[in-house]
Amino acid sequence: MSKVKVIHTAKELHQFRQKLNENFQTLGFVPTMGALHSGHVSLIKKSTEENDYTLISIFVNPKQFNNSEDLKQYPRTLSADLMLLEGLTNCVVFAPDEAELYPKNDGFIPMELGSIGRVLEGAFRPGHFEGVVHVVHNLFRLVEANQAYFGQKDFQQLAIIRLLTKHFGFQTRIIACPTVRESNGLAMSSRNMRLNEKERQDALIIIETLRFVEAAKSKHSIQETLVTANSLFQQGSLSLEYLAIVDPETLNELTEWQENQICCIAAHCGSVRLIDNLLF
Ligand code: PAF
Repeated sequence: MSKVKVIHTAKELHQFRQKLNENFQTLGFVPTMGALHSGHVSLIKKSTEENDYTLISIFVNPKQFNNSEDLKQYPRTLSADLMLLEGLTNCVVFAPDEAELYPKNDGFIPMELGSIGRVLEGAFRPGHFEGVVHVVHNLFRLVEANQAYFGQKDFQQLAIIRLLTKHFGFQTRIIACPTVRESNGLAMSSRNMRLNEKERQDALIIIETLRFVEAAKSKHSIQETLVTANSLFQQGSLSLEYLAIVDPETLNELTEWQENQICCIAAHCGSVRLIDNLLF
């Protein structure tokens, strides 16, 4: 049995938050869908260094899955997650059920995401970001964190969370944290749990292609780079959804190199959908 304190209701969360306020203590927030890995742990550790307390939410949000099979297959590993948090001080887990997080008449008014919500993930996962915005809105409203921590692997999500924070006037400061990789370069993801050994190996084509694009910057045009990167990727066994070089602010595709750009890839490795990116 884990010793980490777990709260399940909005009421308990409110009481916890009140206590911190009374003691002038700050709260860092790490929202997750569970199946915690070293990437999450790095966000949590950063939060524990920068705040008096850290709240980790664990909730597999049905609203952000545009594919019911993907939702069904998403790993749910609460006891293992709690074990992983063992030993971290001043951490509390919030594991609500759906009714708790989405009460009837929750007062959420959807926001217009604009083009940033329509490209890349938005184009391939209709409704995904609308679901992310809804759950993060409801979480932010309940948690009232001083700072919230998000990984850069979900770069587009991070951009949208910055937008929603501004749009709804949340006082929470958004902290972006670098992608954590395995020693072979594979980006940490809860979905990696569903890869077998061969697929883990095959998935390395993603980081190899991203590094190829980065190295091509000073030598080739974007158009030439994309052609070669696509054929490099096709040599592997993954099925590509998109490979795009975009502006880190607007996420619009680039036709010319600029000082900073981000290359983003989404692909299916067997039945598992993976995303990754490199900012350079
Ligand atoms: O990045 C995730 O794990 C999820 O999209 C988030 C932010 C926890 C919302 O469900």
